[in-house]
Amino acid sequence: MTASQAAQQHDITHEAHRRRTFAVISHPDAGKSTLTEALALHAKALTSAGAVHGKGDRRGVTSDWLEMEQARGISITSAALQFAYRDTVINLLDTPGHSDFSEDTYRVLSAVDSAVMLLDAAKGLEPQTLKLFDVCRHRNIPVITFINKWDRPGQAALDLCDELSERINLQPMPLTWPVGEAGNFHGVHDLRTGSLVRYERTAGGATAAAETELDAARAAAELPDEWAQALDEAELLVESGGEFDVDRYSDASATPVLFGAAVLNFGVRQLLDLLVELAPRPFARADADGAARGLDTPFSAFVFKVQTGMDRAHRDQVAFARVCSGRFERGMTVTNATTGRPFATKYVQQVFGQQRSTLDIAYPGDVIGLVNATALRVGDTLHEGKPAVRFPGLPSFAPGHFAVVRPKDLGRAKQFRRGVDQLGSEGVVQVLRSDRRGDATPVFAAVGPMQFEVAAHRLEAEFGVPVALDRLPYSVVRLLTVPDDRKTIDSSGRGEVLTRTDGTDLALFTDEIALGVLTRQHPSLGIEQLIAGT
Ligand code: G4P
Repeated sequence: MTASQAAQQHDITHEAHRRRTFAVISHPDAGKSTLTEALALHAKALTSAGAVHGKGDRRGVTSDWLEMEQARGISITSAALQFAYRDTVINLLDTPGHSDFSEDTYRVLSAVDSAVMLLDAAKGLEPQTLKLFDVCRHRNIPVITFINKWDRPGQAALDLCDELSERINLQPMPLTWPVGEAGNFHGVHDLRTGSLVRYERTAGGATAAAETELDAARAAAELPDEWAQALDEAELLVESGGEFDVDRYSDASATPVLFGAAVLNFGVRQLLDLLVELAPRPFARADADGAARGLDTPFSAFVFKVQTGMDRAHRDQVAFARVCSGRFERGMTVTNATTGRPFATKYVQQVFGQQRSTLDIAYPGDVIGLVNATALRVGDTLHEGKPAVRFPGLPSFAPGHFAVVRPKDLGRAKQFRRGVDQLGSEGVVQVLRSDRRGDATPVFAAVGPMQFEVAAHRLEAEFGVPVALDRLPYSVVRLLTVPDDRKTIDSSGRGEVLTRTDGTDLALFTDEIALGVLTRQHPSLGIEQLIAGT
């Protein structure tokens, strides 16, 4: 190795170690957009809150990439926001958060090294947070919990922490504890320094909140009751197994907990500091053969999302790839491991919300948006030079919505078939078939119903095949493990078995009751829970 190669490898490792790549998992309205803005504001990436992403009046500017998005006023795209904080480069990957969220939301989690679970203090764990948390748990992604909206009435801090241990078996390890109950917030007790971090409100929360740090004696003098209660409660939790232990965070069996109010920038600095201090750095990812690919090996990345039609004027397609190793330079030619074909990276961007900027260099942990990437599919690996590298394909997730799809014009059966196969291979929807239904009438399966709309829109726009979708009444899905039990399920009138393109047999049932009745009748029925990310 020459001296300059060694220096380059050192540079790559150094840059990779500065990265923190994470996503916020939350239920809609918990404050994800607000927190994103507050984080970026603290990092001084933006001049005022509201410039990235917004709600209310600002909602319309989030994105106008797809007509559908505009009509519904929600974002169905996800990409990464990058900003510098202290000596760290933070990559915050956006997870679409509407209740119609889709497989894309889950897939983002395959591209992060950690997650922040954002809870609304009044609501605690909500359905979408639980689903996303399941994926984190399955992938062993370390999670920091931020309990938001402490400035307004909500549940008791201890109850919220109990919910974490009782409902999802995740040990809370408080690092800050609120002083004053929700709605009467004075600041937080920093368990590691023993001091009170008191917050001063600033106008509209549009600038970083002013904080003053008081030692324990002054805190006790100024807020005797609230301070004593905060100390007691935090101690109770610490003594019942909640003592901070970085290894338990890293192995994802426990979660550091912070309290704050994103809209007022309360607690946001602590969150950023914690990400810098604790959150895992990019590590050598295992390739499809299980071999770890060192960070300083030649460039490699995998595509975790493909977005079509982001710019209607050009009908372009952007593939988002997470860099796993090496140094990416715009203009370099890489190989798509799936096809073995070269791919020129002349047009590479950073995209977040509506903002795009050209990107020249990227390191492990960063996300690159490859424009005009019509040849790229979700799950593809890109690499520089030889030998070829291939990362494991992206998992499919347990769908909860099903619809039979038919072309409105039977004369376009061929285009229909091609379109369905294409959308299935891109992971826009999962495609299921069975002998009973026949090859010509596939069933689309999705995590969120909006995937159906995207699929129907694309079949018509790109393949010239308007389709009719008939929703099926199933909501519960299991993995069929004993092929012979297919008949039992199909003939029961309570469900049916369909085969996904990857060969997995999925048993679908209308609801838990139907499934319960069937398993009582056939106790040894060969089905299993479909875990997130299989
Ligand atoms: P989301 O992206 O998770 O869907 O949530 P978003 O940030 O849009 O926040 C949802 C609502 O919660 C917003 O109010 C936002 O201002 C509010 N919010 C976020 N963080 C806090 C907080 O710490 N305290 C309080 N009190 N509210 C918070 P909205 O009325 O829906 O929108 P807007 O009119 O305020 O923009």
